[in-house]
Order: sequence, then structure tokens, then C-alpha cells
Amino acid sequence: MLSVLRMTPAGRLARHVRWCLAGPPRGELTGRLSVRSAPPTAEVGVASDWVVRVENHSRRVWPRAGAGRVAVRGRWITRNGGDYGGPIEAALPRTLLPGDWADIRVAVPGPAAVGDFTLAWDLTAGSQAVTGSPAEVIPVPVTFPRATDIDYHRVFRSADLDANSWWVVGAYHSREEYERSAAARRGMLVEQGLTPDSRVLDIGCGTGQMALALEGYLSDRGAYYGTDIGREAIEFARRTYRRPNFVFAPGEMTRVPFPDSAGPFDLAIFFSVFTHTFTDESVLLLAEARRLLGPRGTVIADVIVTDLADRAAGHRGEMRVNRGHFLRLAGAVGFGAKVIGTFPWAAGAERLMIRFDRTR
Ligand SMILES: C[S@@+](CC[C@H](N)C(=O)[O-])C[C@H]1O[C@@H](n2cnc3c(N)ncnc32)[C@H](O)[C@@H]1O
Repeated sequence: MLSVLRMTPAGRLARHVRWCLAGPPRGELTGRLSVRSAPPTAEVGVASDWVVRVENHSRRVWPRAGAGRVAVRGRWITRNGGDYGGPIEAALPRTLLPGDWADIRVAVPGPAAVGDFTLAWDLTAGSQAVTGSPAEVIPVPVTFPRATDIDYHRVFRSADLDANSWWVVGAYHSREEYERSAAARRGMLVEQGLTPDSRVLDIGCGTGQMALALEGYLSDRGAYYGTDIGREAIEFARRTYRRPNFVFAPGEMTRVPFPDSAGPFDLAIFFSVFTHTFTDESVLLLAEARRLLGPRGTVIADVIVTDLADRAAGHRGEMRVNRGHFLRLAGAVGFGAKVIGTFPWAAGAERLMIRFDRTR
């Protein structure tokens, strides 16, 4: 009841009189800022709605425009305490008399990268500081826009794989580019110890880019086992790569469908897979690879790393991980890691090719 009365014109007038008579010294700009409504998460480049309350606790009128205007300011801060992008300023909805308050609705554009950010709000009044109002700092995990999320089941179900097998699994501009990438990956694997007699496990094999690369390379003593959550992709790979030592089976999110007796493998590869899986899934898949690898077996995988996330940030469209966190988890399932390639990616992130060797 009292709070309703406080919002009426009479209530506002009473507050105004009280602050004029008994507020802080006349020249002092004293106020308070509080965040009334914050989004639980934000998306890169997408505006989120905030409500910030400002209260004029001084004896001065707060103008909403002009040189001495009072405004609220929001700044994105990284997990390491740095400013990220320019501040957002929002004007008062009206002139605020002493004792008056207002809620300001602000559409805050998301930062340009995913990660664990905070949004720090404060009050500004040109060059003059507003006292009594420490910044409000709200943690906000930032992810990619929902519209860029990927459901691989849907991708494979709706694709015409006979026409587009190369197109659905990566950012390739042509089939030739896809084939060049396959050959380059095979060259990299040879540098890491692949031989024609190797037994290779390809987890997240898609439509078989590495089956294409290894079809003419592996001997009959070698073997290629491919698995993917996309049943249509596996069916396509089965009818396309028909050597008897090339085996394909559909898998599940954290389970590789081959029994222990299918191993031991010399090499397990995850190409552009951990860039689409959540960290707990990636680590369970690493543990599955370890189950099927021989004692001197190796994993080669690429990941996108960012220092802007405590652990990981993103979604199935693109997942970025904190490098130290990811490598600690890989260590926990029995792998030591060595970075064998570093590639520029986006602001605040880079793509690594990592070799994991069994430590036990
Ligand atoms: C970007 S594509 C890369 C495909 C292939 N490795 C290549 O480089 O051409 C990612 C693939 O990972 C598969 N995938 C995603 N999550 C998976 C999981 N948990 N287990 C197995 N495959 C998965 C997707 O279905 C998709 O085929």
C-alpha cells in the first residue's frame, strides 16, 4: 500500500520536498542505480532488454539532455576484467526532480564474441561523478544467436547427399575445395604417424571426407571405421566407400557404436566435431576413443579455444572452449595434449589442431 502511495504524484512531491530540505549538500550529485530486470543470457550481436532504476538523491534537478545530463551507462567486461567494446549510454526518460526516480528500459546489443561476460552499469553526469552509486555488475553468459544453432539430424535428413555430400559438412565453396582439404588432412595425419597399414577410427565422419582421403591410401592390412550421429550420412558413406575394410555405423551423442573387439585402433580422428559438441560430450567421446585405441594410440582433434569463457561458450552451431579447462578434462580421461597446429579464427578465438596421446 505504502509503495503504491509513493508512486503517486503526491508521493513524488513529498519525496521532492524531503530531498530539497534534507538532502546532501546542494552541489553534490548523489543518486542510486539498481538493475530491476536482467536477461539470464545474451546472444552475440543481438540486443537484450534491461530495466535499470535510477533515483535522484540529491537536491539538484537531473536534466535528461544537455551538457549536465545524467544518464546510465553499461559496459561489457570480460572475465579478465577488460572492457569489451564501447559503452552503451541511455538517457533518463524525463527530467528527475530531487527525490524522484525512474525505470529506464535499455536494449543492450550483445558483445561481438561468446564468453562469460559481466555487464557493469553506472550513472554518469558529464564530467561530474555521481556519488553513492557504485556500479552494478551482473554476470551474463553470452552465446551465439539461436538462429545459428545446428541440428545435424535435421541437416542430413533434409539434404540431398548424392548432390551435396561435400557441402553439408563444412564451409566449403566447392567439391574441389572439399577434396583439397581431405588431402591436406591426410598429409597432416601422415606427419603424425599414419601409415597405409594404420587402423583409423573416424568419429563424426559425416559423409566420409576422410574415407575419401584414405580409400586409395590404406592397405588391406589397414582399416577405416567411421561413425556419426547422422544416419543418412552413414548410409551415404556405406554406399559410397565399399572396400571391405571400410566399416560405417551410426553412433550416439556420447557413444561410439563399435565393440572393444573392433580395436585396437592406431589413430582416432575428430575433425570439426568438438567444434559442435558440448564439453561433457567431447570428453565422453574422448573416453570412447581411448577405449578403442591401442596403448600407443593417438587422437587428432581440432577445437576452437577462447580466453573469454571460463569453461566453454557457444552452441552446436559453433562451440568454443577454454583451452586450459578442456586440456585438464582430456587429462582426466587419460590423454596428454600437444598442439600441432594453430589457425586464426574470429576475434577472441583461435582454432587448434591437437594431438592427444595416452598417458595410461
Ligand atoms: C562439421 S561436420 C564434420 C564432418 C567430418 N568430420 C568432416 O570433417 O567432413 C560435424 C560432424 O560431426 C557429427 N557429430 C556431431 N556430434 C556428434 C557426436 N556426438 N558423435 C558423432 N558425430 C557427431 C555431425 O553429425 C557432423 O557430421
